[in-house]
Amino acid sequence: MEAVSQISSFDFDGEMFDIGGERYLRTGELLTEQDIADLKKKDAIYFGAIGDPRIKPGILEQGILLKMRAVFDEYINLRPVTSWFPFVPLKREVPFDIHILRENTEDFYMGAGGKFGPSFSEKKNADGSYDSSVSVQRGMYNIGLHLNARASDDDDFAYEVGLLSRKGITRFADYAFQYAQKRGEDRVTLVDKANVITNNYGFQREIFQQKADEYGMKLDFMFVDAMSMAMIVRPETFGTVAVPNLFGDILTDLGAQLQGGLGMGGSGNINPHGLSMFEPIHGSAPDIAGQGKANPIAAVLAAQMLLDNQDFPEEGKMLRAAVRHVLDTNQTTPDLGGKLKTKEVGKAMCKYILNQKR
Ligand code: IPM
Ligand code: MN
Repeated sequence: MEAVSQISSFDFDGEMFDIGGERYLRTGELLTEQDIADLKKKDAIYFGAIGDPRIKPGILEQGILLKMRAVFDEYINLRPVTSWFPFVPLKREVPFDIHILRENTEDFYMGAGGKFGPSFSEKKNADGSYDSSVSVQRGMYNIGLHLNARASDDDDFAYEVGLLSRKGITRFADYAFQYAQKRGEDRVTLVDKANVITNNYGFQREIFQQKADEYGMKLDFMFVDAMSMAMIVRPETFGTVAVPNLFGDILTDLGAQLQGGLGMGGSGNINPHGLSMFEPIHGSAPDIAGQGKANPIAAVLAAQMLLDNQDFPEEGKMLRAAVRHVLDTNQTTPDLGGKLKTKEVGKAMCKYILNQKR
């Protein structure tokens, strides 16, 4: 981004925020109220990768990443799946450019769940039943769910509630149809599992169908299991794909691999009316930390999406061209068969960008 700012009208003035595993271990802080207030003053957030083997899984994810997506109401997670030849692992060499829109605030990602049973007997009532409550506070709504559970006393139970709201589905559908329109497409593919999870995804289908009629566009339905096959067998047949949160998480790792691996997937957590956050789709890869093996391309493609989102599409193209250039000249990390270190790939891209200066 600095290289791009040197040769264009894009003015890069980044401030580093010490949000992550290191600070958590030092101070116990995740995403603080102060962080939120400070970040709110910015045009956009560029986020590194999260995950630290010293910290129990879920703490950083829920306390930082998912919290950021929720508090800034970044309800669209845009994850393009582009055929970056020659790294596409498919036998058939056919170009594709799927744009997955993953819903980013609802579904099984709400953190609404609990446990009951004899091992959790502190929650047991005098009548033998168990009480379990969850609350979800969002910009769109506040929900309190209360479960009064009765079960034979010989087992323990865990549950996780996946909620979809009319408002949440409606804004997701609006974004998807408008996005497809902007790409010059006549349809949206909605992925779900409406044959089993009938309440959530049946409701979602109804609202998407109404929106399709409203926009005068077509709507294709795919079950997520069939979709995971279809993305491998016929990726070129998909354009704008709308997927609920959990299935979107899974399908976009598959999508990353179709592009050459997790190191190739950029992603944007978008609030169309507020603060958006851009990140690679991968985690922090602690097993190779500090070795210079990490592929920087996913992070660079996230920066490209940031530039597009901030209305610097020409500057975004510079980053994309720089990615194409290092791929074409074999200046890549070992995951792509290259011999370069992370920083060397970055330098090669900067050099290419700066050479574009007229
Ligand atoms: C992703 C990641 C996150 C998610 C994790 C780290 C919480 O896998 O961005 O896809 O599940 O959304
Ligand atoms: Mn994921």
